[in-house]
Amino acid sequence: MIIAIDGTLASGKGTIARRLCRYFGLPYMDTGRLYRATGVAATKQGTDFEDAMALADVARTLDLDDFDEEELRTAEAGQAASKVAAVPEVRAALLELQRAFSKQAKGAVLDGRDIGTVVCPDADVKLWVDANVETRAERRWKELREKGDTLSLSEMIAQLKERDERDKNRKDAPMVAAADAVLIDTTHLSIDAAVDKARAAVEAAIASKL
Ligand code: C5P
Repeated sequence: MIIAIDGTLASGKGTIARRLCRYFGLPYMDTGRLYRATGVAATKQGTDFEDAMALADVARTLDLDDFDEEELRTAEAGQAASKVAAVPEVRAALLELQRAFSKQAKGAVLDGRDIGTVVCPDADVKLWVDANVETRAERRWKELREKGDTLSLSEMIAQLKERDERDKNRKDAPMVAAADAVLIDTTHLSIDAAVDKARAAVEAAIASKL
């Protein structure tokens, strides 16, 4: 069973993914972490963000154990991630890793921006998770503020809009819902209600195969 979960930043897709993994006993890959790690490593190494081959090298030689979770979750890491994610050579370097993960015997849950469209186009279930930009910005703003970040809410809204635009408009693997994805709008949903919807979609897919 491969479950592909795509959607916008702070839409709740990561929480839904982790809860589905626990419920269905599947391994989980947060593919945004790969792009965040590439962006952070490139920044630390002083890599030229215009140099596609150098960025791809950074992606290919990543050791994910080199990063602590805190440094990957900052707003700067997210911005760097979305810049390197627009480089086709970086995407190509990270693609096989994601595909190999999805092909485990049990299956897997992967979340990102292009899982249902590019990484796992034959996934058993595809979900597209979204919410309006103000709601998403407020969620992420509260989360970062608790960690001491001083960004204002209006700056956060502006950052999210910039990230959404870059992710939607890049040429290679743009962020878009797969035609056969089940849509979950979390703007007015609690996380439990969103997870219930996601679980129902997976159970419907399982039932359709019986
Ligand atoms: O989901 P997260 O915020 O961690 O993703 C960070 C960035 O990585 C996204 O804004 C997007 O540019 C990129 N990304 C991607 N494809 C994926 C996962 C993440 O382009 N499958």
